[in-house]
Amino acid sequence: MLRIDDLRVNYGGIEAVKGISFEVPEREIVTLIGANGAGKSTTLRAIAGLVKPALGRIHLQAEDITGLSPDRIVSKGITLVPEGRHVFPDLTVLENLKIGAYLRTDNLEDDIKWVYDLFPRLKERSWQAAGTLSGGEQQMLAVGRALMSRPKIMMMDEPSLGLAPLVVKGIFEIIKEINRQGVTILLIEQNANMALHIADTAYVLETGRLTMRGTGKELLNNEAVKKAYLG
Ligand SMILES: Nc1ncnc2c1ncn2[C@@H]1O[C@H](COP(=O)(O)OP(=O)(O)O)[C@@H](O)[C@H]1O
Ligand SMILES: [Mg+2]
Repeated sequence: MLRIDDLRVNYGGIEAVKGISFEVPEREIVTLIGANGAGKSTTLRAIAGLVKPALGRIHLQAEDITGLSPDRIVSKGITLVPEGRHVFPDLTVLENLKIGAYLRTDNLEDDIKWVYDLFPRLKERSWQAAGTLSGGEQQMLAVGRALMSRPKIMMMDEPSLGLAPLVVKGIFEIIKEINRQGVTILLIEQNANMALHIADTAYVLETGRLTMRGTGKELLNNEAVKKAYLG
């Protein structure tokens, strides 16, 4: 569904992503794991159109989407749940969800119901200011807001960051459920253990290069991965 060929991204003189190629097949959960600074966020930002690749192509099905604006990429069906969630703190939960649908002009009722069915906690807090939600609830809202664009592919940047283990477990259950309902997932994580447990396909990213590929299970059982990422 999504194909990345020889993607390179530089920031000034710094090569953050040094020519990576991988695929995200339809309906799979694909994860990129790697240490802080490996280039995970940069990869997602390039796919989302937020940074311009120095080289390489990004295809969604047969279409070359390299260099399209972020809005165009959202309208093609690719959405990003950014690191740190970035909900609008002074707006209500419902207002935040509606912002996720800003490119659409059709009826949102069904989608709001969909998100509230996935996250009953958000429904209860519909009129609450997003800034007063707990970290886990804000992560749910960031996911819900992304779903409001009706994505084919949802990319997630470290959804577990700064959350308690039990809350992380809940978020990962929901990611699996969203995937089961037909949304393809590209997940990047420093929390390799959780990510590998739900991934169909997994890659290791090391200082801008992909160094390993396998099923989630294969990488969970790989000695080098255990040593470097599963501590
Ligand atoms: N806006 C930026 N300007 C300059 N360098 C950056 C910028 N964003 C990231 N980098 C650098 O690019 C490399 C990859 O960063 P990043 O993609 O954020 O890694 P990760 O998400 O895996 O932690 C790092 O060396 C980081 O310092
Ligand atoms: Mg990052």
